Amino acid sequence: MRHFITLHDVKIKELHRILDLSATIKREFKNGERTPYLPGKTMAMIFEKQSLRTRVSFETGMFQLGGNSINLGDEAGFGKREATKDFSEVLSSMVDIVMIRSKQHKSITDFAKYSRCPVINGLTDKAHPCQALADVLTVREVFGGFKGLKLAWVGDANNVAVSLVRACAKLGVGVAVAAPQGFQFAEKDLKKIVGKETAPGFDLTLTDDPVKAVNDANIVTTDVWVSMGQEAEAEQRKAVFASYQVNAALMKKASKGAIFLHCLPARRGLEVTDEVIDSERSKVVQEAENRLHAQKGLLVWLLTEANRF
Ligand code: CP
Ligand code: NVA
Repeated sequence: MRHFITLHDVKIKELHRILDLSATIKREFKNGERTPYLPGKTMAMIFEKQSLRTRVSFETGMFQLGGNSINLGDEAGFGKREATKDFSEVLSSMVDIVMIRSKQHKSITDFAKYSRCPVINGLTDKAHPCQALADVLTVREVFGGFKGLKLAWVGDANNVAVSLVRACAKLGVGVAVAAPQGFQFAEKDLKKIVGKETAPGFDLTLTDDPVKAVNDANIVTTDVWVSMGQEAEAEQRKAVFASYQVNAALMKKASKGAIFLHCLPARRGLEVTDEVIDSERSKVVQEAENRLHAQKGLLVWLLTEANRF
């Protein structure tokens, strides 16, 4: 059974295939064609954390593909009411695909161990692979491809950063990550983060200097300083990250024509200023919309190519 729990679940060729499918489905959709690629298919969704984009894009996407979705509320009792094995075997015997946003990454991997259908990671504390798909689809649309590009991540080297680095590694995009000490990728984790399969053009620079990271970057991106579940550390984090704000002065140091990305929701005035997020360089709305198109590509790939039922 093929799942999409991290970017390591897809090979380079497959990632390109998902992006091609996403672009085709987006083009058809924009032309008014709603091709029912997944008639009669049902997706179950479990959210242990808040969501706007993930929830709406998956539910709408599944409907537009001719399928159906169920958002299991708290009353389903994932991880609370019965053993994960029982929960997973039963749920996955009734639906065609399951999307989970969980507090602990292990909740998804445990579910997947017993699942009879593909499982998609809709964000955990460790990874956000669907976000990375939408991000690289946006990059492809803006720059026409990935060759010669450099991406700068400024701020917390968090779940979103991990997935984006993995996608860049597979697509041959150079990455520089600027994060304060203690919030940077740990050396010992780098192999696991990057993975075995990288495309020419990818390299990874770690620094604590945002100016150094954005130098020559075509894409400048960041995320909240306080992720869901880290609320108790909010004050400490705000102090540590204060000099990692993406503002107009920092954007000036990037390459001419550099774009700004953010997975959203953003804390305006903290990790990014209004001036940057509302500027012409900002592609955050296109990026958010691409959650819909990228995940439709992913759903079609998982249910018709990666797994044949
Ligand atoms: N970017 C993202 O995953 O947004 P939501 O938390 O609103 O789903
Ligand atoms: N890093 C953030 C991303 C939200 C989409 C979080 O985990 O809360």
